[in-house]
Amino acid sequence: MAPMTRERAAAGVPTPDMASYYCRRAAGGVGLILTEGSPPDPAGSFNSAVPRFYGDDALAGWSAIVDQVHAHGAAIFAQLWHVGAFNPSLIGMADPSDETPLRLSPSGIAAPGRPLGREMSDTDIEATIHAYATAARNAQRCGFDGIEIHGAHGYLPDQFFWKSTNLRADRYGGSIANRARFAAEIVQACRRHCGPELPISFRFSQWKQLDYRARIADTPDELAALLTPLVDAGVTLFHASTRRYWEPAFPGSERSLAAWTKKLTGKPVIAVGSVTLGNDFKSREGKIRALTDAAQLSRLERCLERGDFDLIAIGRALLANPDWVQLVGEDRLAEMVPFSREMLDELA
Ligand SMILES: Cc1cc2nc3c(=O)[nH]c(=O)nc-3n(C[C@H](O)[C@H](O)[C@H](O)COP(=O)(O)O)c2cc1C
Repeated sequence: MAPMTRERAAAGVPTPDMASYYCRRAAGGVGLILTEGSPPDPAGSFNSAVPRFYGDDALAGWSAIVDQVHAHGAAIFAQLWHVGAFNPSLIGMADPSDETPLRLSPSGIAAPGRPLGREMSDTDIEATIHAYATAARNAQRCGFDGIEIHGAHGYLPDQFFWKSTNLRADRYGGSIANRARFAAEIVQACRRHCGPELPISFRFSQWKQLDYRARIADTPDELAALLTPLVDAGVTLFHASTRRYWEPAFPGSERSLAAWTKKLTGKPVIAVGSVTLGNDFKSREGKIRALTDAAQLSRLERCLERGDFDLIAIGRALLANPDWVQLVGEDRLAEMVPFSREMLDELA
């Protein structure tokens, strides 16, 4: 199950309803649940409807979710999500900035030409990395099977990756290796705090919430330069976030971003994007067709058999169909319910 924010926490505390929501997918046959993004510290928070990953009350709520998901036979990773200088009003959503006025970023901008928050000092960087490591250790204590660092979609680690939001002249800016340093230090600190066994997934993307055409790597060599420091820091697996998992990542080759990631790093890789869906992520058309023809699933099987990637994450189709795994496994594709944005309000 792909990580998906729901904003249903009670003042940042995960609720029993959230446990039921995850258990429904676990009972439906999902092997691994990646939780919705959860901030490691107050500065990383989107708003108070997002479940926190700090504070005893929130951690107790997460423990209960882990126990129940395990009882249904699925594994679960906590996704750690720091928004950095993200401001929802920039993408037309309500601005909760009165709740979370502190915005940290590599260079005090949310996007090119859009000042937001303050440029992180060395002390800010150190404290933020420490918050991730503490959260990772707490995830382990709660019984999570692993963690995922959300380094995609324009959030804090990605703000460091992306040239347009990282204008720093110190060791965290400039070359690709320098822009990867913040993320690598997060992984390293989590690894140090949690030991060699804890699986650490690292999620990254080319696209940003603010710019679907943005790129952090223009060539496979640049991608290797970005990912190698993360491998060296102790990443267990990568999660290549794309809007359509099959699309070629670079000109001149059919290989997808996930397939390149596997080839370049040798690590297990999760692919994601539009499985059994007919439209784009965040389609303005509202209703999104469920694409349920067998040809679409054979393409997925071919990619898996060929070793392009190891796992496939299912997002919106799994919101609409908690029993997605059963429907696919039992060839009951005609029963699949289409996803629509309105569904998000009543989701169980
Ligand atoms: C409602 C919603 C919330 C999301 N929240 C997150 C999130 O918290 N963390 C994250 O990494 N991706 C998030 N995503 C992106 C999904 O994990 C996934 O990459 C995307 O939906 C594409 O997969 P799909 O085509 O199977 O839906 C979200 C997507 C949706 C639809």
